[in-house]
Amino acid sequence: MSFANTVRAPLGTASFKARIGAVSCLARRNYHTDIPEPDFEAYRSNSSKQANVSRDKFDAKRKVYSYTLVGGASAATVYMGKEIVQDLVGYLDINDAARALAITEIKLNDVPVGKSLLTTWKGMPLFVRHRTEAEIKAEQAVDLLSLRDPQHDSDRSLTPEWMILVGVCTHLGCIPLQDQGSFAGGMYCPCHGSHYDSSGRIRKGPAPLNLTVAPHKIKGEYLIVG
Ligand code: FES
Repeated sequence: MSFANTVRAPLGTASFKARIGAVSCLARRNYHTDIPEPDFEAYRSNSSKQANVSRDKFDAKRKVYSYTLVGGASAATVYMGKEIVQDLVGYLDINDAARALAITEIKLNDVPVGKSLLTTWKGMPLFVRHRTEAEIKAEQAVDLLSLRDPQHDSDRSLTPEWMILVGVCTHLGCIPLQDQGSFAGGMYCPCHGSHYDSSGRIRKGPAPLNLTVAPHKIKGEYLIVG
């Protein structure tokens, strides 16, 4: 059937419509003859290959696959969760350890009057001195004008009996010796000869400043530094 014959039929008549339909089918067939139809057979699951078999027959197999997939993903998620919680707990543990290092607790009864204790606080040497009445009287009577780094004894301790000092020389950072030097109950740094009194104030030698007083409080029979 040619296009010329089709257009020769009167417009709107049944013959015209039949001829138009036939021509368009012919045209459609002609246009698609060179395009191969894709074959999806290789991608189909067994359950969908046979059109006359119900999918229920393959349910068990499909469920095993789905459950294995979901189970595997759940196990991986639980494992990842466990790792995260472990890391978090480890992190908190480190914080606890660091906090423990930042606080030093000393039983006051362990340091008799007139004795000193050397311990550590935050990785630094810590001097704890239980001062005698004589030492307290002598340090409180010191004329501030005679000091290189003027500071009254009572401004350096919570209670006159206890002097809590960071044991690092303010000259070049050596560790002074306790109960040594020219001042009773004081400290002496042998590196370059600095003398500190029992209040930790620099009295002789090159050190420019007093020893640092460590932050502390007394709770019952315990001294807590930090
Ligand atoms: S470091 Fe102590 S006197 Fe120099």
